[in-house]
Amino acid sequence: MSKINIALDGPAAAGKSTIAKLLASKLSMIYVDTGAMYRAITYYYLQENGSTETNFYDLVNRVSIHLKYDKEKGQRVILNDQDVTDYLRENDVTNHVSFVASQEPVRTFLVERQQLMAKEKGIVMDGRDIGTTVLPDADFKFYMIASVEERAKRRQIDNEARGIESNIETLKDEIKARDEFDMNRDISPLKKAEDAITIDTTGLSIEEVTQKILGYVV
Ligand code: C5P
Repeated sequence: MSKINIALDGPAAAGKSTIAKLLASKLSMIYVDTGAMYRAITYYYLQENGSTETNFYDLVNRVSIHLKYDKEKGQRVILNDQDVTDYLRENDVTNHVSFVASQEPVRTFLVERQQLMAKEKGIVMDGRDIGTTVLPDADFKFYMIASVEERAKRRQIDNEARGIESNIETLKDEIKARDEFDMNRDISPLKKAEDAITIDTTGLSIEEVTQKILGYVV
């Protein structure tokens, strides 16, 4: 198969990263988790005691971000020479990431890097604006959705696996608030690209979703 790029977008906790990782492995492609890049900038913003007054032009000038691939651990995010991957799922980062990701300098900085990564093709990239803004010419675009109940349940199971207790109602509220913010920001809001295929994963297993997508790609 000639080299292609696949864009996977959708709301929070719709299973994008799990599916993107599996697809990349089955198709011998490279998986790029763009949410982790926005999370890494958010981690830095919090370390720097960021606030609504933060000058994001200055902030991105002080940041370097690289993605590294570890055979066992998968994608690692290197921020100013430090591997910050293990901090990116912390609540504080999750609760501030939509605000940081809505800032124009942050988006310009990351979109440019993401486009460079995908230049040679062979990339499965997941995020919110991949099909609309980052890779408008991607060979395949999917928009993954699932009910908020199911997304919260999946996030709770993920958290349990990482030893974190979480309340399902709180998770639902957090997911809804993040989607609301991501869908209503001024710059490249979360939305389905016109030519994307919608995949509703509610009630489907990981294997079923993967097979469904492979049905289009292979
Ligand atoms: O996918 P993940 O939940 O890690 O994304 C975290 C946040 O990063 C999203 O809620 C969104 O605010 C932002 N994001 C974005 N554009 C992307 C990927 C993520 O704005 N391409």
